[in-house]
Amino acid sequence: MISHLNINGNVVEFTLILCDIGSYCIRKRYSSMRTIITGGAGFIGSHLCDYLIKKGHEVICIDNLLTGKMDNVVHLMGNRQFRFIRHNVSDYIYVDGQVDNVLHFASPASPLDYLEFPIQTLKVGSLGTLNSLGLAKAKKARFLLASTSEVYGDPQIHPQPENYWGHVNPVGPRGVYDEAKRFAEAMTMAYHRYHDIDTRIVRIFNTYGPRMRVKDGRALPTFMCQALKDENITVFGNGLQTRSFCYISDLVEGIYQLLLSNEYEPVNIGNPEEIPIHQLAEEILTLTNSKSKMIFKPLPVDDPKIRQPDISKARTILNWEPKIPRAEGLQKTLAYFRDELTCCGKDA
Ligand SMILES: NC(=O)c1ccc[n+]([C@@H]2O[C@H](COP(=O)([O-])OP(=O)(O)OC[C@H]3O[C@@H](n4cnc5c(N)ncnc54)[C@H](O)[C@@H]3O)[C@@H](O)[C@H]2O)c1
Repeated sequence: MISHLNINGNVVEFTLILCDIGSYCIRKRYSSMRTIITGGAGFIGSHLCDYLIKKGHEVICIDNLLTGKMDNVVHLMGNRQFRFIRHNVSDYIYVDGQVDNVLHFASPASPLDYLEFPIQTLKVGSLGTLNSLGLAKAKKARFLLASTSEVYGDPQIHPQPENYWGHVNPVGPRGVYDEAKRFAEAMTMAYHRYHDIDTRIVRIFNTYGPRMRVKDGRALPTFMCQALKDENITVFGNGLQTRSFCYISDLVEGIYQLLLSNEYEPVNIGNPEEIPIHQLAEEILTLTNSKSKMIFKPLPVDDPKIRQPDISKARTILNWEPKIPRAEGLQKTLAYFRDELTCCGKDA
């Protein structure tokens, strides 16, 4: 007799067998959820792999290593709950056996990356999403899309609630990322409405933490590495543009809560504490005790001037909000970059 229990969100399956007359014993303790994470060797994807493995999932990470690296998942190699498949998800995806969840995180994510790989970014947001949804449909699995605050573009409403439709320039250089994600959301909703797929859409706001790449081009790793090397800190514009930074463990917890919920409309996950970029640079200078000086460079085209998630929905339906204060998150991330620069040399 096979039974299922839901323990803290983990579906646990066990078999009861008759041992003696009138008494049962448990033969097979559990068989876990089987979850695919596309982009699982990237910054966020690799933390999700760790988190779900701890929750008892069997995780299949599919990644073509375009912007991710094996170092992020090397500690999972040899773990029976983990499997790595090197594959471009813009091509047809084949996975044998049962699949319970497909989490689609594959995509270049930093502006430097999507400007270097514009066509790959558009393809993974469109064809990659189509293929991942197709897999979820074939396997009757739940699907979760990693979308982004960039769907709001340079916002005219502040903070940004989920029902704001955004202010995006489709033909600007950033359009390759913003429009790919907007298309991915539309495709996800179409599969939900027309194929009855159980879908989730998380709109992720700026997230930081260990495993970000030294040279990924986003403000936080750039400032940290410049400060650690006593180089000039390059702030774009006048530094008054604002961002809100969420620590990786808070994000991953929010994504998991969303996966377990029944919410198929988009949900913002991010930290609503908003600061000007020059303040972030100052905090990092203080933390590192660096001799670096701030210098100012022209603002990139279509760079959003303000960015703050309205997380009322996540608070209400997921009972989620970020817990890690910025001072603590910055310390943890700094320790990581210190190690990275020490082990890989100052030019890492
Ligand atoms: N980091 C953030 O602050 C942030 C904010 C909003 C949204 N997101 C979204 O979260 C996801 C992960 O972002 P990240 O910061 O971890 O970026 P990342 O670059 O570290 O990870 C992306 C991963 O996807 C892989 N990938 C890219 N194209 C692929 C393809 N065609 N086939 C297979 N694998 C492919 C890369 O190799 C990499 O491992 C992305 O979808 C991104 O849009 C991230």
